[in-house]
Amino acid sequence: MKIFLDTADVEAITRANDTGLLDGVTTNPTKILETGKPFRKVLEEICSIVNGPVSAEAMAEKAEDLVAEAEKIASLASNIAIKVPMTPEGLKACSVLRAKNIMVNATMIFAPDQAMLAMKAGASFASIVLSRLDKIAGDVESFIEDTVKIKRNYHFSTEILAASIKSRRDVIHCMKAGVDIVTITDSIFFDMFRHPLTDQGLMDFDKDWNRVKSAGLV
Ligand code: E4P
Repeated sequence: MKIFLDTADVEAITRANDTGLLDGVTTNPTKILETGKPFRKVLEEICSIVNGPVSAEAMAEKAEDLVAEAEKIASLASNIAIKVPMTPEGLKACSVLRAKNIMVNATMIFAPDQAMLAMKAGASFASIVLSRLDKIAGDVESFIEDTVKIKRNYHFSTEILAASIKSRRDVIHCMKAGVDIVTITDSIFFDMFRHPLTDQGLMDFDKDWNRVKSAGLV
């Protein structure tokens, strides 16, 4: 199970990367906007911190324009994956980019058959977007499970990347279902280290260790 951070916040990425447990980063235009910094500068910064794939969105409608845009973005660093939209033109661009050995992340996928098309087009990553589906009362759990099953049925090599995750419960569901990657906020990432019983147990041991020392037992 790989963990990506879904943010363009360089400080958050640095903190998560320092744990040694971060496998990549995903961004989108909204997350770039939130940084207030130029798109290319932010991407270069992120790619200099993280060794794994860093997704950046190519914004165009036609396949040839997406490819041209993608090539410019991909030239910034060797670990960039280009996000293309889940449309016929997006997946056409996906095949062209994969033939050029550029990693592709097909994004805005909300149904298992969409995911299958992205896998068939050779996407490196298929981004299944969970909480946006949940908001309109979609069956998120079946979506995740069916997409994993389809990948396995046909032995696709595309990695299923669960995005738009709002809770640790969603992360655990993805892990149980066999999703390849979750992309999460830094706050969910650091929450995953925590449990009240971990805090309590560590406090107890700390207290008792001090008593061991006071008693001259070390
Ligand atoms: C996925 O490809 C999207 O860019 C992103 O993860 C959406 O997250 P949000 O629904 O929290 O904005």
